[in-house]
Amino acid sequence: MKNIINWITVSLVAIFATGFFFISCNSNESSSDKTVDKDSLKVMIERGKYLAHDVSGCINCHSQRDYNKFSGHIVPGTEGKGGEVFNEIYGIPGVVFAKNITPDTTQGIGKWTDEEIVKAITMGIRKNGDTLYPIMPYPHYNQMSKEDIYSIVAYIRTLKPNNNKVPERYLSTPVSFAYPVLKSNSLESNIKPDVSDIVKYGAYVVNSAACMDCHTPMENGKYKMDEVFSGGFTFNLGTFVANTANITPDSLTGIGKWTEEMFLEKFKGYRDPARFATNPGKINSIMPWSLFSKMDDFDIKAIYRYLRTVKPVKHAVEKYPK
Ligand code: HEC
Ligand code: HEC
Repeated sequence: MKNIINWITVSLVAIFATGFFFISCNSNESSSDKTVDKDSLKVMIERGKYLAHDVSGCINCHSQRDYNKFSGHIVPGTEGKGGEVFNEIYGIPGVVFAKNITPDTTQGIGKWTDEEIVKAITMGIRKNGDTLYPIMPYPHYNQMSKEDIYSIVAYIRTLKPNNNKVPERYLSTPVSFAYPVLKSNSLESNIKPDVSDIVKYGAYVVNSAACMDCHTPMENGKYKMDEVFSGGFTFNLGTFVANTANITPDSLTGIGKWTEEMFLEKFKGYRDPARFATNPGKINSIMPWSLFSKMDDFDIKAIYRYLRTVKPVKHAVEKYPK
């Protein structure tokens, strides 16, 4: 009897011990899992913030820009609320408004799933099936890595909800006329090149920043791809007129004579908030220098290294026409 009791006690202790062992193992495992999840979400949001603000221009176009400051510095507190006007200045047959991309559930994208947001960003197709005008650079985002795109989504979900109602767009020709051929149907095959291949990596950054869209001349609403990056696209914003620069390596009319150091310093010079404190009058720019300047030095150098490899195009551009 005593033996049996002893046996039972031993077994119960064993069972409890094992139980505790499992419980403690499980709880250890789940709490460390949660920390890993939390950490990886934090990393994703950080990366998404970097891309959305400093590289891919999301926050630039989807917030209110103030052209009384250099380069249309964005108005703090308006991040993601939309409403910026895109019209014939951008070569659009009509008027298109940047949408509210804050997590507001009535005016923003608060009720969209990640997949629905990704489809809008990378294919230009809204939750309701409508097509977005390609001034929203989805043909470029279509080439970005799945990880980068989901990081951007994770970040824009952290924006402060704003119930700004954005007007309906008006187009004089159906948007289908402008719908581009997309390179990729799935993000799975998109890869972000390793930084060790700086030229390829630079091409990835230039694509993610859609530099091409502003820096390529247009004819009949189409980019002249044989003159890609050669500038000369005119932005007449009323208070100032600026032509985009030739950023091909042509040594006379492009940036062929610029060293990597000069290129980096040009961007870094705009990191100083004092550059955006006063109204620059006619010598203003539509290029979001205040945001692009905050790109990592390495990314700016990679952009330079890639731009050295594009076809030099002789195309003299006067940035500020008299
Ligand atoms: C050059 C300006 C520009 C940039 C850069 C830009 N967008 Fe847009 N975006 C727009 C415009 C304009 C629309 C609306 C187009 C239309 O109505 O046809 C839009 C639409 C959207 C929509 C659809 C929302 C809805 O309600 O239909 C989402 C989501 C979006 N953008 C997210 C982003 C993200 C994320 C980025 C950065 C990766 C980004 N945009 C970069 C201009 C821009
Ligand atoms: C919204 C349109 C727009 C976008 C996007 C844009 N640019 Fe520009 N860029 C301009 C305009 C306009 C100018 C001429 C005025 C000025 O110097 O700011 C310019 C000027 C420049 C200059 C100065 C060249 C010179 O001769 O002084 C460089 C370099 C440049 N852009 C590189 C880039 C790169 C790299 C990207 C992508 C990361 C980019 N731009 C994206 C509009 C744009």
